[in-house]
Amino acid sequence: MKISIIGAGNIGGLTAMRLAESGFVEIVLVDLVKDLSQGKAFDLEDAREILKYNYNIQGTGDIKKIENSDIVIVTAGLTRKPGMSREDLLTKNAQILKEICVNIKELARDSVVIIVTNPVDLMTYLALKITGFKNSKIIGMGASLDASRFANLISQELNIPVTEVEAIVIGAHGEGMLPLSRFTNIKGVPLTKFMDNATIDALIKKTVTRGAEIVSLLGSTSAYFAPSAAITEIVKVILKDEKRILGVSAYLNGEYGIKDICIGAPCRIGREGIEKIIELELDNKEKEIFLKSAESIRRLTPQLIN
Ligand code: NAI
Ligand code: 2OP
Repeated sequence: MKISIIGAGNIGGLTAMRLAESGFVEIVLVDLVKDLSQGKAFDLEDAREILKYNYNIQGTGDIKKIENSDIVIVTAGLTRKPGMSREDLLTKNAQILKEICVNIKELARDSVVIIVTNPVDLMTYLALKITGFKNSKIIGMGASLDASRFANLISQELNIPVTEVEAIVIGAHGEGMLPLSRFTNIKGVPLTKFMDNATIDALIKKTVTRGAEIVSLLGSTSAYFAPSAAITEIVKVILKDEKRILGVSAYLNGEYGIKDICIGAPCRIGREGIEKIIELELDNKEKEIFLKSAESIRRLTPQLIN
């Protein structure tokens, strides 16, 4: 299986490491800054003897090396700086993505593409439009990361292992995300049985601002450990055809009453990418927030196409 990662920065490099250590053997790391991708690839190669793994990793500045990849992961682009929203990145990253997606279309037409670059819901939509790939083949990473953050905060509040928590977050990967307390459970017991509404609201707020909190702590970059873990999980689920349900940014075509945007929703993921979009039975308030979140994405889509 050949996995290409475009963008060898913090997330790209760490994802390469996680994939290599998960037993995926053919990895290509591409960056505009060729020396960066090559340096990281050499460093990762040097770890093989210690780890007793025989992965092959190539660092390059030549995007043509992604040819015939099974999976292409796009992490290329600018990151948020303190005070910046993900949407501020829109114009610049859209230019970068357009060029990359033209190459993916030409060189890796049978691949499943995982978009990471922010604002991820809009970049996923752009990738879909530029490649013309089937909706199922373009997946945006964001909602599973947000759910993992929500689960982490819940586990800390309740002083229980995070593995006991199953959290669900839908909506835009941004301020409009919707952590769903009614669908979040601890070993099958709804979260609402464990804490009062005020505590839940406080945890939801913390989840929504977690990315920005990390940006302001790191100073000049955004999170990369949890994002690379979330990407690696999606890759594993695809390549092992696990058919697990993960929150990803998917193209909606009427599901939840939403059409023609990409947004976070629970999806069954398998070898072909997004196999099914799961429609949760949202109550009126949840529906309203989800639709608002969708509109926050939709109002920015005209900027992508120009
Ligand atoms: P980074 O700055 O460490 O790495 C980005 C890399 O992209 C740089 O090495 C740069 O040289 C490269 N690049 C730029 N244009 C390129 C091109 N045309 N071709 C190939 N490489 C190119 O950034 P980091 O931390 O790895 O983040 C990457 C992206 O992921 C950012 O847009 C960030 O906002 C986003 N992100 C998304 C998350 C999500 O949940 N979807 C979570 C965290 C970050
Ligand atoms: C994050 O959620 C900035 O999207 C990035 O950490």
